[in-house]
Amino acid sequence: MERKTPVIAPERLDEQLAICAKIREYWQARGVTPVAYVETYGCQQNEADSERIRGLLADSGYGFAQGPEGADVVVMNTCAIREHANQRVFGNLGALTHTKRRHSGQKIFLCGCMAGQPEVQERVKKSFPHVDGLFSTHHLWQFPEILWRVLTRGKRVFYIEDEPGSIAEGLPVRRDNDLKAWVSIMYGCNNFCSYCIVPYVRGRERSREPGEILAECRDLIARGYKDITLLGQNVNSYGKDLGEKMDFSDLLAEIARIPGDFLVRFMTSHPRDAGVKLFDTMAKYPKIAKQLHLPVQCGNDRVLKAMNRHYDRARYLELVRYAKSVMPELVLTSDIIVGFPGETEEEFEDTLTLIEEVGYDALFTFIYSPRPGTPAAKLPDPATREEKNRWFDRLCQTQNRISEDRHRAYIGKVYRVLLDGMEGNLLTSRTEGGRLVRLEGDSSLIGQFREVEITGATTWSLTGKLVEK
Ligand code: 5AD
Ligand code: SF4
Repeated sequence: MERKTPVIAPERLDEQLAICAKIREYWQARGVTPVAYVETYGCQQNEADSERIRGLLADSGYGFAQGPEGADVVVMNTCAIREHANQRVFGNLGALTHTKRRHSGQKIFLCGCMAGQPEVQERVKKSFPHVDGLFSTHHLWQFPEILWRVLTRGKRVFYIEDEPGSIAEGLPVRRDNDLKAWVSIMYGCNNFCSYCIVPYVRGRERSREPGEILAECRDLIARGYKDITLLGQNVNSYGKDLGEKMDFSDLLAEIARIPGDFLVRFMTSHPRDAGVKLFDTMAKYPKIAKQLHLPVQCGNDRVLKAMNRHYDRARYLELVRYAKSVMPELVLTSDIIVGFPGETEEEFEDTLTLIEEVGYDALFTFIYSPRPGTPAAKLPDPATREEKNRWFDRLCQTQNRISEDRHRAYIGKVYRVLLDGMEGNLLTSRTEGGRLVRLEGDSSLIGQFREVEITGATTWSLTGKLVEK
């Protein structure tokens, strides 16, 4: 079988890197070291994209600023998942008129998921004339060309053609952290959950070649990275578009066999495609973190169907039961949407009983937000905002109690953690399951895996002490 997804030809990427060199010369000729500011909204996929944008900017000679004031380039990498996210971006974009007034050479770019929404493109064209460039996620790899055109032609640039999407390998990356790394393994989503904008703004699913992913992981591990998170909107459908027979579990096992002291984790799993093979693979390899983000969205079968999720409550609970049976220490988290159009109080209460039954370690909870162009946005939505807020509060209270109980059960036990930073004079660390543990200790320990005994717990975090070797 042939690979279905187009990969950008290396020559076309080389052209972009050559433009980076031209931009560097442009600034050198002016005797200026330019600075850039990249602001990221939304999920880890956007964080990973921003690391590539920074990589391209660094190759173009830019240093980095902590804020937009005085920056020569400002990039807003945006999220469109809920209306609130869009409003925040428009508010912050409006405020950039002032920074631009004080620094007339400032060039402002909007990219990420919002840049793929036609109504955003129109609004930016008409009402935000200070935005110099806008490009959707498909065009990220062409950022050098976009920046060059803005710098040298003084015209606004919009790269928004709707294409099925491609894969660009070999872009420079400037990573935010030197212990933990994101590795995108696939892009886009084919699921079309009825409430979700992602398939419209990020295009169809497309997988990177396993060889490219493995090479990236090997390189990170050789450079001392200890924690790798594989990213995709739906990692379980990894490989379906590849010419060879390699599914997500196979990929995960290959990564877990790389020599070295590290952990690999992943997000996000869709319950429709997760199953026995994945959980058995996780259980088999010590280097695969026993952590699973398995968004259920809600606990009622009618609503799950209306959401187009392709599983029901019983199947989800069966998955969780199996996963816990092969991984007793599994840390399980989920996303929940409250107030999907037409959801009743009784239906919402099925979500409450489901979270009790599963016993999640933590939840990411959202009130439904209609997204233009999605099927759910056309459904009648009779529940009031006040009702939904009340449901939301009940959900959070229930989960807080569950999280607190689960955290309390950690006390007195010993866990292996990765020491990853300082907060005031305390060390911070993460368990294999991703729980935050604060403890006393010296900053020279950062970067090590060590054993800690858990001495205290709150809803959100744990405290512990180092177990002396
Ligand atoms: N409204 C509210 N929450 C949403 N999510 C996705 N789309 C919407 C929406 N329209 C949530 C889902 C998803 C998470 C990333 O964001 O729970 O898993
Ligand atoms: Fe959105 Fe569903 Fe795809 Fe997740 S799986 S990105 S919720 S459409």
